[in-house]
Amino acid sequence: MTSRGTEGRQTVVISGAARGLGRALLRQCAARGDRVIALCRRPEALAGEPGMVEAVWLDLADETAILGLADRLGGTPIDLLVQNAAIRGATGGLAEVSGADLAAVMAVNVLGPLLLTRVLRPNLMAGCGRTVAMISSRAGSMAEGLDPDGDYAYRCSKAALNMATRKLAYDDPALTFLLLHPGWVQTEMGGPDAEVPVEVSARGILERIALATSADSGTFRTWDGRPVAW
Ligand SMILES: NC(=O)c1ccc[n+]([C@@H]2O[C@H](COP(=O)([O-])OP(=O)(O)OC[C@H]3O[C@@H](n4cnc5c(N)ncnc54)[C@H](OP(=O)(O)O)[C@@H]3O)[C@@H](O)[C@H]2O)c1
Repeated sequence: MTSRGTEGRQTVVISGAARGLGRALLRQCAARGDRVIALCRRPEALAGEPGMVEAVWLDLADETAILGLADRLGGTPIDLLVQNAAIRGATGGLAEVSGADLAAVMAVNVLGPLLLTRVLRPNLMAGCGRTVAMISSRAGSMAEGLDPDGDYAYRCSKAALNMATRKLAYDDPALTFLLLHPGWVQTEMGGPDAEVPVEVSARGILERIALATSADSGTFRTWDGRPVAW
């Protein structure tokens, strides 16, 4: 089980925290008393959140900004890093595939999480929870991720994120790396027909994280605890 910080409350870092699933995760973490460092491109959007929420600007497409984040956070111990930010890219099928779009999606959805893990590892080692939760997607599963849409870049990026996370779990047993599929969630990305209310998905994800042990590192589960086939 993810252990709490020494003063009894966790410090949680969440990427893409200004809207969508990230915002719901932020609110639920703040409500249970966590200190939340909310990484986002629009810190002003979090002005009304409670005092334990600290908005920190970060564009995950900006490699230099990611590499500079450790300096900006100083030696702050971090218990839990939730890598939630992602983009969908072109959705028009093979006809719309382009190098620029694929590179942009891979930068935010794969390179960003890898670099963020690297720069925040010392902070995670200084914390108690030592957990990195990657918000992936069933869309990146070879076995379960085929639907009739045109999302080549997004699906490839989530498959790559899954492998990157498996590799992190293999290489770095000091941290617990979780891959979590949030469901088809009622956010801008999920669209108007999505099934899972964002608060329900966020609650499930936080439950999965709280129940996880180091033996779960490298596993891929849904927000409600079911394994996802690779
Ligand atoms: N919704 C679904 O049905 C669904 C299904 C499976 C998996 N997921 C995954 O769940 C996670 C959250 O998705 P969501 O539904 O909340 O999506 P969303 O509504 O589109 O929100 C995406 C979030 O990512 C942030 N973001 C995008 N590009 C960024 C960048 N370059 N730098 C920093 N932040 C950036 C956005 O910030 P801005 O406000 O600055 O744009 C926003 O906070 C994603 O990893 C997604 O792949 C979602």
